[in-house]
Amino acid sequence: MGQFVLAEKYGTLSDFKVSQSEYLDLIFEIMETRKRSSKPIAYIHTYGCQQNVADGERIKGMLEKAGFEFEDKPDNADFILFNTCAVREHAEDRVFGNVGALKNLKRKYPNTLIALCGCMMEQKHIADRMYKSFPYVGLVFGTHALHMFPQLLYQALSSGKRVYVRDNDDDYVHEGIPIRRDGDFKGWLPIMYGCNNFCTYCIVPHVRGRERSREKDIILNEAREMIKLGYKDITLLGQNVNSYGKNLKNSLSFSELISEIDNIEGDYWLRFMTSHPKDCTKELIDTIANSKHISTHLHLPFQSGSSRILKLMNRHYDREKYLDIVNYAKSKIPNVSLTSDVIVGFPGETYEDFKETLSLIKEVEFTSLFTFIYSPRVGTPAAEMDDPISAKEKSKWFRELLDVQEEIASKRCKSMIGTTQKVLIENEKGKDGILNARTSGNIIVETKAPKELIGTFQNVEVTEAGNWILKGNLIK
Ligand code: SAH
Ligand code: SF4
Ligand code: F3S
Repeated sequence: MGQFVLAEKYGTLSDFKVSQSEYLDLIFEIMETRKRSSKPIAYIHTYGCQQNVADGERIKGMLEKAGFEFEDKPDNADFILFNTCAVREHAEDRVFGNVGALKNLKRKYPNTLIALCGCMMEQKHIADRMYKSFPYVGLVFGTHALHMFPQLLYQALSSGKRVYVRDNDDDYVHEGIPIRRDGDFKGWLPIMYGCNNFCTYCIVPHVRGRERSREKDIILNEAREMIKLGYKDITLLGQNVNSYGKNLKNSLSFSELISEIDNIEGDYWLRFMTSHPKDCTKELIDTIANSKHISTHLHLPFQSGSSRILKLMNRHYDREKYLDIVNYAKSKIPNVSLTSDVIVGFPGETYEDFKETLSLIKEVEFTSLFTFIYSPRVGTPAAEMDDPISAKEKSKWFRELLDVQEEIASKRCKSMIGTTQKVLIENEKGKDGILNARTSGNIIVETKAPKELIGTFQNVEVTEAGNWILKGNLIK
């Protein structure tokens, strides 16, 4: 188990001698005397990507074993945790606002422990700011300290002192942490942690550390267990799944891993994210095309359509290479549904560069896009680059991009009218018997159906199309 590296001024941790699960028993005992209701209540709020959601499910797994129940509001909580994201400034601002709003609650219920974890807390300047601005936050830990959460929570509860920890240990993958999954039939399965790519705009490698893969057998066992429990839609997670397995003793490729998972018997869809275009191989596309369970949805972030900007972003592919892999996917996977991430207004981007992004979008015809305006991140190379374009101008480009994509998405949706789609029924839309379902290509279909069908695969005939969603009739 890794050693803690503490931010110097926060002092050192005392010498712990019991295992993480023993701490859960100790927490249970402490909470017997501190809880406000008959059971200790936790409120866990996760921001950011699925990796953070998966971490949040592990934190809930540990708390559940210590006797906690969960509520989706902080009002009655004995323990409040914000699991934070550092990817853009907006994400960080929301956390500062939400923590600030808890001041009165803490005044009224001094025994409530307020904690912060996740990617933001791995940045020293943020941990420092939290320490100074929010004296009522009792526990702060970064992504690397997740496996020691029971120990840290115990220390914060038993000492009454503030515990602030950032770890630095990239050499280990900690297994065996209990999980309390948020969904009953859709679930996340992390296959690796960290990132080695250092795209010049991105904070993730700085806060999640170096790339490390989980052992194949552990992943296969978790997948088997999820399928046995009835999970129908399983997403394999990693910042760059295509480089899975490189650090393992018996190295194997992502294509090999996903083929082995695909061989597990059962009725389920398998998805994965994120796939980096520089490492997305034709072998992987062939694997998807020949699989039984892998969805026809490929999320392949391109970030910019300009090769000049891609170079400044340190993405290690150019426009031609991106289009080459996309065209190969289109030729091999019938009706492949492509989605992507794109950044507008990277430092030094001109309107000419931006027009290349627009033309790439038109050429590929994505099902949907996650669109971002560039946000400078402390400690990344792009934050030091000249950025002469005004925020107002960038917003104008951004609007233009959204309009172009809306037209493309609408055209794609309309082309599906009259087709029959296999869908997974997910949840109720409102109270009028309309349910939301999702296609293998990740498009929402609204359909009238009994609630009992939630969590099952059905077929629908598509009858109407909006800009982003479809409507259809259940085929009995
Ligand atoms: N590992 C994934 C992405 C993780 S971050 C990948 O490589 O695709 C999710 C998305 O946030 C990125 O794809 C990028 O589009 C966006 N993003 C990351 N840093 C950003 C920044 N500084 N400003 C704006 N968008 C950013
Ligand atoms: Fe960030 Fe690039 Fe790593 Fe994705 S691949 S997490 S964008 S550094
Ligand atoms: Fe955000 Fe961390 Fe994910 S920075 S996007 S939560 S890896």
